[in-house]
This record gives sequence, C-alpha cells and structure tokens, in this order.
Amino acid sequence: MSVHAPDVPYPAPAPGRVDLALIDEAVRSLDLAGKIRLLSGAKMFSLWPEESIGLTEIVMSDGPTGVRGEEVVGGRESCLLPNATLLAQSWSSEVLDEVGAILAEEAMDQQTHIVLGPTINLHRSPLGGRLFECFSEDPYLTGVLAAAYVRSLQSRGIGASPKHFLANESETQRTTVDCVVDEQTLRELYLLPFEIVDQDAHPWTVMASYNSINGVTATEHDELINSILKQEWGFDGLVMSDWFATKRAAESANSGLDLVMPGPETVWSTSLQKAVRSGKVPEEVVDDHVRRLLMLAARVGAFGQLRSWPTNIPRPDSSLRREQLRRIAAQGMTVLKNKNTVLPLSKGAGNVAVIGRHATDTVAQGGGSARVRPPHVVTIADGLASALWPGGVTVVDGVETRTRMVAASASAVRDPETGTPGMRVRALDEQGNVLDSRHFDVAELEVAEDGWLAQAARIELSADVSLATPARMRVGVIGPGQWTVVAPGHHESFTVTPHDGPGGGLHRPKSHASVVPLESGARITATTGPHFEMRIIGLVVTAAARPAAAAIRDAVEAAASADTAIVVVGNTQEQETEGQDQKTLALPGEQDALVAAVAAVAPRTVVVVNAATPVLMPWIDDVDAVLFAGLPGQEAGDAVAAALTGEIEPAGRLVTTFPVHDGEGPAWETAPTGGRLEYTEGPGVGYRGWYQSAAEPLFWFGHGLGYTTWDYTSAQLMDRDEAGVNAVTVTLTNTGQRAGKETVQVYRVPLDDGQPVRLIGWDQVSLRPGESGTVQINCDLRTQRLWDVDQHQWLPLSGGSIVIARGLGDRRITVPLENGQES
Ligand code: BGC
Repeated sequence: MSVHAPDVPYPAPAPGRVDLALIDEAVRSLDLAGKIRLLSGAKMFSLWPEESIGLTEIVMSDGPTGVRGEEVVGGRESCLLPNATLLAQSWSSEVLDEVGAILAEEAMDQQTHIVLGPTINLHRSPLGGRLFECFSEDPYLTGVLAAAYVRSLQSRGIGASPKHFLANESETQRTTVDCVVDEQTLRELYLLPFEIVDQDAHPWTVMASYNSINGVTATEHDELINSILKQEWGFDGLVMSDWFATKRAAESANSGLDLVMPGPETVWSTSLQKAVRSGKVPEEVVDDHVRRLLMLAARVGAFGQLRSWPTNIPRPDSSLRREQLRRIAAQGMTVLKNKNTVLPLSKGAGNVAVIGRHATDTVAQGGGSARVRPPHVVTIADGLASALWPGGVTVVDGVETRTRMVAASASAVRDPETGTPGMRVRALDEQGNVLDSRHFDVAELEVAEDGWLAQAARIELSADVSLATPARMRVGVIGPGQWTVVAPGHHESFTVTPHDGPGGGLHRPKSHASVVPLESGARITATTGPHFEMRIIGLVVTAAARPAAAAIRDAVEAAASADTAIVVVGNTQEQETEGQDQKTLALPGEQDALVAAVAAVAPRTVVVVNAATPVLMPWIDDVDAVLFAGLPGQEAGDAVAAALTGEIEPAGRLVTTFPVHDGEGPAWETAPTGGRLEYTEGPGVGYRGWYQSAAEPLFWFGHGLGYTTWDYTSAQLMDRDEAGVNAVTVTLTNTGQRAGKETVQVYRVPLDDGQPVRLIGWDQVSLRPGESGTVQINCDLRTQRLWDVDQHQWLPLSGGSIVIARGLGDRRITVPLENGQES
C-alpha cells in the first residue's frame, strides 16, 4: 500500500539556476552598508530586495506542518496537516514526500519562498513542549523522514529550513539554557539528523537555535556552524538565526551565522559595520554571508532567473486536499491495544456512545509558531457520527481539559454588522470616533506595531453570540491590557497582565472571563483602555465549566446503555506547545477518572488519544482498545473515523517510547540547574536507554498493532562488510484476517562499550491475509559507527547482533553477526 503524491495539475517550477559569476559580480557591486543591510530581515518574515542587483523580496513562513503566512493568528486560511509525530508514525518517506508537495503548493499559493521546517530536534525527555513539532526520539528515523520532506519541497523550488541547530530538545529557559552534551553524543545523536538531511537532501537553509551548546550560544557556535556544518559536511546553504536569537554582532558573524532574523532592526544592522571597520570582522566574512544569501535567492527564484507563481493551486478545503489530509492522518494513527479484535469497529459494535471533550473540541494542532488557521476542523464527534450508524451515535461532553481560555470558535460568534461568522474590530481615537472598522472571520487577531491598529487609542471587539439554547457562558478577552467587557446584564472593567517569559505574549497570552447567562444573539463588546501593549487579542465566549463529577455521571449513564463506548481524551495546546515544557505526562483534568468510570460500565471501551506525545494510561488494563491519534490536522474527525472503522488501516508505529509513570526513562528533567541542562544519559536516549536499563516501558518505540498479525519466518544478512551491515532480507506472512501494512524494523545491538541498541534500517510491505513476502531492508552505515573522541573520527561498530523487531518489546528474529545464524 505505497502512497504516492498525486500528479499536480500544473508544472511545478524547477528550483532556480545558480549562476556563481552573477553572484560574485553582485557582491562586488555592493558597498559594505549595502551588503550588511541584506543580512538582516526586512520585516518579521521577509528579506530586503535590492533593485541594483536584481534581488527581489524573499518571503518566509513558519512550518513545519502548514504554511501559516506572516501573521501568527488571524491570517489567511491554509491547510492544517497532521502534526509531525503523526506524520512520522507512518515511518514512510513517501508520506513525507507527499507532505512536502502539499506544503510547497501552499507556499506557492502565498508567494512564499521558504518554509521554516522541518523541526528535527529529538524527543529527549517526553516532557519537551515542542515534541509535537519534531519527528521522533530516533535520529535516523528523524533524518530520513526530514530528508524526504526537504527534497520534496526544494524540488518544487521552495526552500526548507531544518531547525533548530542544535540541542534544542526542550523549552524551559530556551533562550538562555546551556545544553551540556558530550562530543560523542552530539555526533551520534543530535547532529545525526542534520547530517543525514544535509547529505541526502541538501537544504538551502538551516536555522540556528536559541540555546547554548557546551557554553557557546548556537548563533556564535564556530565549531558547529563553521567547522562541522560548513567545512566538514560542505553545507553550501545559508544559516539563519532563530527569531531574536542573535546576541552579539562580531561573534555571530565570524562563527558562520549568515542571516539575522527578524528585522528590520538587529544587532547586525546596528553594529556589524562598525565591527568590520574596526577589523573585528573581516569583510570577506560578510561577502561569504552575502554570497550564501544570493545563492539562496537564486535557488528560490528571487535573484537571476526570477520565478513565477502558479495560480491554480487546490484550495485548503478542496476535495483533493481533504482526501490527502484524511488519508495521511489516518494511516499514521497507531493501534496500541486491541483486545479480542474490538477494532476495527463493525456494524456489530451496535449503539455507540462517543464521550469526551476532545470528541467535541478536538485538538487538531499544537501551539506556538507552528499554528495555522485551517479552513475547518472536523471534530471526532462529527467524523464518527457521519461514518458510523447515523442515529446510532450518542455524543456526551466530557470533563474540562483546559485551564487557559481560547478565542471563541468562529461558528459561536457573528459580526454585528455583517451577520457573518466572526467578529467586528474597530480602531477608535481618544474621543471614541471610529478610525477604521474591519470584519474578522475568527475571534482573535494579532496587533502589529506597524499594522492598521497602530494609530488606535482604543480597540473595540464586538460580536453577537450564536447559541442553540440560552446558556451560562464564560465571556471575556485574551490579551494583556485594561479592558471593559459589556454583555446584556454584564459590565466589567479589569486589567490582564502581560505574560512573563520570552514569546509568552505570542504563544500563551493571558486572559480573563466571567460567567454570564446569555441568550442567542446577545451582543458582546470588549474595549481596550487608552494604554495597551499587546500582540494577540481575542474574544472569549465559551460554555461555563461543569463540575467533573457531573460530566462523569452523564458519561457513565451513556456508556452503560451503549454497546461500545469510545472515549476521546487528550492534551491541549497547554501541553503541546512552544515556549514551555510539561510537568507531568498525566492527561489534563479528570480525564483518567472519566476513562476509568466509563470502562467500569461499558461492555466495550475504546480510547482514542488525541495527543502528540506520550501520556500516562493508568486505565490501560481496563479498556479494550487504544488508538493513538496524534494531533490529526483539519480532517481530524474523518481520519479517526476511517481508522476506527478500518476503511484505512491505522498502520502507524510509535516514534517515541511511552513510560508507565512520570519520571521513568533515560531523560526526564527539562528544567536547567543554574542555567545548565546536562544530557547525562549520553547516547542512551529513548528506547536505547530503556533497553540498556532492561526496564519495561508502557509501549516501545516502534510498537503498533495495525489490524492484522504477522509471522516472521526468516531473516538473512545480505550484504555486510567492514563498515557494517548494508542489507537484510526478512520473510514474513500476514497471518491475520485483513490486508495490512507491516513496518519491518532492523536494529543492531553492538558489542562496543557504552554503545546502545539502535535502529539501522526499516522497510514496509503490504500483504493480503495468508500472503507471504520477502522484503529487503537497506541498512544505513551512518547508524553503525561510533565517534572516537581521541582520534576525532568515525569508527565502525564491532560485531554484536541484528534484531528484527516490531518495537523492542516484540523481538522476532536475532542474527548474531559473529556466525550469521539466526535465532
Ligand atoms: C521558533 C522558530 C520559528 C520562529 C519564527 C521561533 O520562536 O523557535 O521555530 O520559526 O519563531 O516564528
């Protein structure tokens, strides 16, 4: 069942041709000030044009799983793809190739030259807030998938930016933390995905991270950027800083950083010229940065041969996109448990109760810079109701899962002037006269310093509420400042304080709301005070919280009278987000109690986990089946329905090991001590460390049941030399009742001291029931070396064994490398 990108209905523009002579000539023609100007962003997400050399503006957008555009919220609608772990659970380069094609087309549609992704930091501690954006705990799986993504984007003339270089595995104190990692571990683990992506896909840019690595901040890391990335690996692209990460001018310029983001004012725009004039930075260094910038510009069609943009790109809600995004999400979903083959659900599942807040308020994406504005999100309740027996599905809201307010959903509010979904935003002067008035079809927006609201003395947000029946609603605002909120029978003035910490105002704005009884059509008006400082603001209109006990009582009642209960639980953007880490892997709120109560009464209980990263499952023995559904993107509910009914096999395999309890596993703590975060587990990250310590996790990396069973009959080393194992063949049979796709995983257990087990290759095979097949798995030598710190070079691993496994908890065949006989 291999997945190929459908043919695009228009020719994909080829990457631009690079004319080195033209680049040299352009560099020579610019004076120092002219060159330095180009090396900082012009705006938040764009670079300066320079007419005299024929350079046009270059536009970037955040990725990694949607092309958001220049506004963090309230911007243009774009495709919301499944999150990175869900994509990675497909273990499929073909899927990532298709993802790259969609992203490239989305970028072209917005006339955007560069997508800031993929995020290829590793899942070190499961607490990392941004793991949802990264592929896996395994560097090889990460590197291979990232290379497919980058190749696909760039073959369509859109630049990629693998990020964040380097050792940015957690978010606590992310702009200042010093990650202390020994040289061998850096090479074997954290550099490896960047090395693979550099060698296999030649990215046109790489983004340097915020943190320090062994005492040197990433944007000034001469050894990492100049010595390893540029000299040793021969990277000929451009290194840009993460946003606002660059601290010092001369040190960063000399260490290989090529571009400071964002602009216009940066430490380079204000002081790099002086540093060059005083001899601290040689002018040739500046020239090299400009050369790399122009090379990038040529590649994306902004210099030399200029690009044109296609106009007939499928809309984010077109049937083509809906089919692609539903299929990609469903096939990455992972069956963690399936007692008595409860899944896939059949008509025999009878009357179904769909329970849980994540069924009705499905979380389709993580928080932070990766957020996009999708055309819609199909909730899991809606997806199941339309896929299963119409009329046979009862939906019951669950317990609260959020503590922070989010903006009202567009369908819950209407613009008082137009009557269309969304809100009205007015810019008022001191006297309350209207300077400007605009419709927003979402209930939040970004207030930019140079935007249309910059001249306003006050900002007014207003909307009429749409309700099926009168209800007690939380009414208020998001965003710091003094506010007055008015609704029928309600008048409240208050101050929302700014969020502490870098990026907090953007990614976790504070809010305030009060409970007000409302009828449908009630008008809500929120006005800022005369002095306001804000980035993201929005209207809050959401149902008042219910006590958990009442929600659980309703759920139990529905579950007891149903034949099958589907409980949908998960994380929200309070857990899966940029700028902060988690403290626990326990599901937020009283969701564990909800599952336990339902499982105690329902004849069959299926749990759908709507989260990107490991969660604790204290109820695992009491439920029949668990589907790990990730953050599935805009088609979430339809994808979950396709997976649960077996219309599409959820053939995912985990990309991270799940602990049973908090605190377990080789790396846990993400809070630095005295500003330092020591990677003391060395190369024993994730399953490598679990295996070394002989501990049993809840689920292993690589685990996933799919909908059929597999018998592995034999394995043979096909090609082996001094450097390692190049290929293995495995013969296997589909012993189940359904056609299915198997991911055959090859691990190597080396003999060398301190060298942990590691994935060295995998491949996939689709077989019908009863069918046997032989698959050849090519193994990568870059996973079969060790970094010798004294000799400063790679050495091949010695001996050991090859293990063919469905995750290390289900090892099928072992082949010792000494005599080549399997056991
Ligand atoms: C993130 C980057 C992102 C950038 C621009 C930063 O806070 O770390 O991943 O690309 O912002 O939004």
